[in-house]
Amino acid sequence: ELEAGLRPRKLNEYIGQQKAKETISLFVEAARQRGEALDHVLLFGPPGLGKTTLSNIIANEMGVSIRTTSGPAIERQGDLAAILTNLAQGDVLFIDEIHRLSRAVEEILYPAMEDFALDIVLGKGPGARSIRLDLPKFTLIGATTRAGMLASPLRDRFGIISRLEFYTVEELTVIVQRAARILNVAIDQAGAEEIARRSRGTPRVANRLLKRVRDYAQVKAQGDITWEAAAQALEFFEVDPLGLDQTDRHLLRTMIEKFNGGPVGLDTIAAATSEEADTVEDVLEPYLMQLGFITRTPRGRMVTPQAYKHLGLPVKKDENGKV
Ligand code: ADE
Repeated sequence: ELEAGLRPRKLNEYIGQQKAKETISLFVEAARQRGEALDHVLLFGPPGLGKTTLSNIIANEMGVSIRTTSGPAIERQGDLAAILTNLAQGDVLFIDEIHRLSRAVEEILYPAMEDFALDIVLGKGPGARSIRLDLPKFTLIGATTRAGMLASPLRDRFGIISRLEFYTVEELTVIVQRAARILNVAIDQAGAEEIARRSRGTPRVANRLLKRVRDYAQVKAQGDITWEAAAQALEFFEVDPLGLDQTDRHLLRTMIEKFNGGPVGLDTIAAATSEEADTVEDVLEPYLMQLGFITRTPRGRMVTPQAYKHLGLPVKKDENGKV
């Protein structure tokens, strides 16, 4: 997969997330010096900011193997038990979407994280017995879009908690230039900046837009990604100058046209736009909130005057005729 080739393998190739990088680098160095497994790590933040990439880098920097799975993929206790008993000393177990683990699976994860032990119940009823298996000292890396969605006993078992932030346009520009080099496509500074500006603070989006702009430049221009080619391509793909796409604009317009800009509840927004509530909350809203286009109030979500202006709509007035 091409995506894999774009991913940095070392911490010093990883652009942005300065705070997370410094923290992780310190704990990795300390654990390595002691010859111990790294403490369990929780990474949280919006999708596409590099949680999986960072987990692979951590394993790489620790010089250990990584086993990757996700909350929804671990259906039964036995699934997790099988994974845990196959780990080697120091290995990383990466669980994406860890907030979606079932209660039953979470229960065997607690002693595994805390005591490196697996409690297995043999038999049923009065004759049932429990045996305890020792596990190798491993590192769990959990990724979630919202730390608040984790049960606190789970959250409390992570020694290192790191929050990933949206990237700046400058950081995304460097990421786009690096990816263009790997993809062997010529891009100028202004072209890279234009893609970066429209990537909603997210490297995954930046890399996707780069590939689509490359296609456009190849067919409609001379192949090189100049500012003109990038701007034209992104307009053609209906990604606006702030990076909003049709889905974002549809969400804002629905809130404005059907609910007078709010306040309106999450489930109502989801139903009116035919999106999952989780998608609205985890994928669409974070960047719109970062832009200041949506705010959360106790009575629901509201569209801000800046969003009306961006969409070219007259700003909503209150009952007193004030803006
Ligand atoms: N590709 C995707 N995310 C990246 C990052 N943070 N640094 C470098 N390349 C990337």
